[in-house]
This record gives sequence, C-alpha cells and structure tokens, in this order.
Amino acid sequence: MYIDHLKIKNFRNIDFLDVSFDKRLNFILGNNAQGKTSIVEAIYSVAFLKSFRSEKNLELLKYGKDELNINIDIVNSGVIDRANLYISEYKKQIRLNGKKPENYKYLNVVIFFPDEINYISSYPSFRRSLIDRSIFYVNYNYINIYKKYVRCLKQRNIFLKKKNSEIDCWKDQLINYGAEIIRERIRYIDKINKFFKNENFKKINEENYELNYSKKISSSIEEQLAEELNRKQERERQLGYTLVGPHRDDIIFLLNDRPADAYASQGQKRSMIISYKMAQIIDYKAVQGHYPVLILDDMASELDSKRKNILLENLLQNSGQVFITSTDFKQAELYRKSKVFHVIDGTVSTAD
Ligand SMILES: Nc1ncnc2c1ncn2[C@@H]1O[C@H](COP(=O)(O)OP(=O)(O)O)[C@@H](O)[C@H]1O
Ligand SMILES: [Mg+2]
Repeated sequence: MYIDHLKIKNFRNIDFLDVSFDKRLNFILGNNAQGKTSIVEAIYSVAFLKSFRSEKNLELLKYGKDELNINIDIVNSGVIDRANLYISEYKKQIRLNGKKPENYKYLNVVIFFPDEINYISSYPSFRRSLIDRSIFYVNYNYINIYKKYVRCLKQRNIFLKKKNSEIDCWKDQLINYGAEIIRERIRYIDKINKFFKNENFKKINEENYELNYSKKISSSIEEQLAEELNRKQERERQLGYTLVGPHRDDIIFLLNDRPADAYASQGQKRSMIISYKMAQIIDYKAVQGHYPVLILDDMASELDSKRKNILLENLLQNSGQVFITSTDFKQAELYRKSKVFHVIDGTVSTAD
C-alpha cells in the first residue's frame, strides 16, 4: 500500500498543494513552522478521520476559510483508489471512489509524532488507545467487539447512576466483551514483547524494553471479571459508574525492568515508542502481507546520532512507503535515497 498522489486545499497553513510521492522514501524538509507536519497530518486525517494533534476539526481549516479538501490516490496491489476528505463547519465527509467507504481498510497509516513520547507517562487512556489502534489494524473485528463493549458500559453506567436495580442485565455481555478485549490486548502485548526480546532488536537499543498489562490474569478472565464486579458492586452503586473492565486497565512501559515513566530519559522514551512502532509494523506485515504507510514526524530530535541512525536504518529496512519530516538539511544519505520536498510557508517544491 502506498500513496501516489496528494492534493490539499485549505488545510492548516496550506492553501493548495498537489504532489506525487515516491512509493518508498519521501523526505520532507523545512525550517520550523513551514507546514511539514501539516502535510503528514493531512494524510493521517484521511486515514483516521481525525488529526493526531487536535480534537477539533475546525482547527484544521486554514484561517479564514470555511471548507477544506484532501484527495489521496492510494495504490494497493496495483489498483488505485481515490480517497477524499471534506471538512466544513457543519460537515465532515470521507469518500472512497465517490462512495462512503464500508470500512477503514483503504489507508493504513502508522505514525510516530513527537508528543507520543508523553504517552509513556500520561493517562492510561493514551496507552490503551495506542495498543487498541495497533490491534485494530491486524484484527478488523476488534473494533466491533470494542464498540459493543462501550455500548454495554454506557448502558450499565446509566443504570448505576439511576440506582436502577436491573444493572445485572448488562453483566454477562460486559464480562464477555471485556474478556475478549483483555485477551486480545494481552496477546498483542506478548507479540510486541517477543519482538523486544529478540537478539536483533537488542542490538538496536542495547536496553531491555517490556510492556506489562496492568491486570494480572490468574485463571479465566471471565471468572476474574465476574468476581471483581461482585466485589466492587457496592462501590459502583455509590459512585454511579463501572469500576471493573478493560476501560480501567493500563499498559506499563518498562525500561530495564523499571517503570519507564519514572526512569526513562526523553531520548529513551522516544526510542521506546519508535521501537514499539517498529514492532507494530513488522507484525502488521506478517499478518496483512504488505506494509502500512509509515510517517515519522520529527523523529530525530533528542536522539543522539548513533541511536538515530540505527533506529532509522532498521525502520527503513522493515517498511514500505515512508514519510520523514525533518529540519535537518544535512542528512546526505537520506537525501540520496529519497524524493526530497522542501516546504516553505505552506508551499512545496521538489529538489530534483
Ligand atoms: N488552521 C490553520 N490555518 C493556518 N495556519 C495554521 C493553522 N494551524 C496552524 N497553522 C500554522 O501553520 C504553520 C505550519 O505548522 P506546522 O505544519 O506544524 O509546521 P512544521 O511542522 O513545518 O514545523 C505554523 O506557523 C502554524 O502556526
Ligand atoms: Mg512539525
């Protein structure tokens, strides 16, 4: 899967953009605040129907404009699909070849962006969504289970708030969907940990990385959830919401057996997240048979050059199409291998 062509109108500081990409390496260069991140953000928005750095659609509209358009031509096994994202004050619409897409498989993007290093020490919800989104890409059914779980949870919470005595009617479904989510998460984390323990990987980072699921499972997940729900029922009734289930769990990043949120340096956190993405991509390829589109937004800062080079080298060996944004004009090796784009004040020129 790769992006052949991108056309943007009125997105962030970009008035109009019309570019063709290399199916392998694309190097987007420019000084600060020129529009590098905006370009990859436009790509991401078409894949996820939201931005990675803003919750509000309207912030994506160029100042003073009232609608934006992004067109992307995606090539998949030789077939070209055109995705279009339209956003205005009142409307957000995605179209694939002119029709509403049936699912989200049309464009699979894995991104690294600098703020993600805060995921390691931020709220558990960030780490849950990191894992959940990764699982979704290799198991499209996961989103259905997830949605069903959230629906049960909402209903049960409404009953708890209203002090309705019928809360038990949601219990079985909550336990079944909840257990399925926990099982999938633990399975995924095991896969990532196997990758982290691999000898080749140890050569990249020379440190021990590990992910830990916060809930320790003894026997059956279903039995354990049922038992916890019984135990906490009184408290739940007092508080008016559900205290047990995957929506309360966490994924802990460990660096050399210690919690990374407390002990890792900024550079180490950055390496951990980038390594997680590397593992995610390798797993994705094993399951889907092709690579997702990889975006590395400003990955190099805070990494020493040895770490940066070895991470980059390994990412490039295990990837399909890659977009790298950088302020560093001196990366001669990348220059040689990539299609190079220069971004100045929202406009793009190619170097060749
Ligand atoms: N909605 C918007 N309309 C116009 N300009 C914007 C909007 N949102 C952000 N900007 C500006 O766009 C510029 C480019 O931002 P960005 O893509 O993050 O730059 P870079 O990644 O090159 O450092 C910044 O000056 C930013 O303030
Ligand atoms: Mg940027």
